[in-house]
Amino acid sequence: MTNDTLANQLAGLSVRLLHRLAKNRVPRHFRMGKNRLIQTLLSLSPEQQADLETHLSSLLQAHPRVPQPPKHGKGDKPKHEPNVVSRPALPPQPSVPAKPAISLQALLEGIGVPPPQSFKPDDWQQEAIDRLTTNDVILSVPTGSGKTYVAIEAMRRAIKADRMVIYTSPLKALSNTKLTEFSQTFGADQVGILTGDRRDNPQAPILIMTTEILRNLLYDAASGEIDMRLDTLGLIILDESQFLADRERGVVWEETIIFCPAQARLLLLSASIGNPDEIAAWISSIRSESCHLIQHRNRSVLLRAAYLDPGGKLAPFFRTRDIARGRGFALHPETKRLFANYEEQTLSPRSKR
Ligand SMILES: Nc1ncnc2c1ncn2[C@@H]1O[C@H](COP(=O)(O)OP(=O)(O)OP(=O)(O)O)[C@@H](O)[C@H]1O
Ligand SMILES: [Mg+2]
Repeated sequence: MTNDTLANQLAGLSVRLLHRLAKNRVPRHFRMGKNRLIQTLLSLSPEQQADLETHLSSLLQAHPRVPQPPKHGKGDKPKHEPNVVSRPALPPQPSVPAKPAISLQALLEGIGVPPPQSFKPDDWQQEAIDRLTTNDVILSVPTGSGKTYVAIEAMRRAIKADRMVIYTSPLKALSNTKLTEFSQTFGADQVGILTGDRRDNPQAPILIMTTEILRNLLYDAASGEIDMRLDTLGLIILDESQFLADRERGVVWEETIIFCPAQARLLLLSASIGNPDEIAAWISSIRSESCHLIQHRNRSVLLRAAYLDPGGKLAPFFRTRDIARGRGFALHPETKRLFANYEEQTLSPRSKR
């Protein structure tokens, strides 16, 4: 087979079949776009090419090409063979948004508002609430699982016992959202806020603040500088407590835990602590009661990831549609191909090396 014939046959193959041909012949072929892949296959040694041709003819037999619609008017004879090219063509430059590899509707299929049903706490939620009567608790469960329910029930119980609650978040914006949310649940007079920007209702039994403000209050209380109602503090909730691992701010969470008054229970909430068992063991070692870890990875809200190519094509990001356990999965071949094409078109020859 001449090089031109081989080039034509390869150019007529789908990218999927080209990758199949390239497997075990071209290292890191999955990172290549169609044209680079064809050029690399054409530059194989004569022995490898003979082997490639055999593989190619078996692929062509198994996957005969669907005839292309004629490009000329009915009855017109094309002046040139439509698919004969002496060299593989350059990748098409997207002038109009490409047709998506998957429609947004198909990608999100099956995700929606569930039918209404009566509320029943999950077992892990009840377990967390029960444990908090005597122990500190780390709740390490996926996003959207219902950590707030545990926080609210624990707060309700603390207030009923005439105990004060402090709820911290790493962001002022989140603190403001929580103020609205908790005011609706408990009544505006029951909730106050202390952030760098706001100081409202500081005598309320539920106080929302950034973790830095709480750490500073605990510092000052420890040094006797302020008369904080620490002896009536029943519960400290540290939301987004994966910030413990933050290079800059992690120390604030660490010190807050260390200075947390002995009689107050600690509730750490997070969807993404990498080593919650180690954190629980550390908290147990510095506090009077042991820290109980509640952890699961079942997502109640499905997550789907997609890759939006700069050319406008949407493709599933992973082979598996749902990110059920928040772990990495194999990339979808279409996303790999789109990304390789993009890389090939945009990276300078120097950075490709
Ligand atoms: N046991 C349950 N059954 C059904 N729905 C629940 C249950 N518990 C909580 N929910 C609902 O799940 C949704 C998400 O809950 P929530 O906001 O507490 O999640 P979260 O775990 O705090 O997530 P994030 O990590 O994003 O902060 C809310 O609408 C809540 O009402
Ligand atoms: Mg939450």
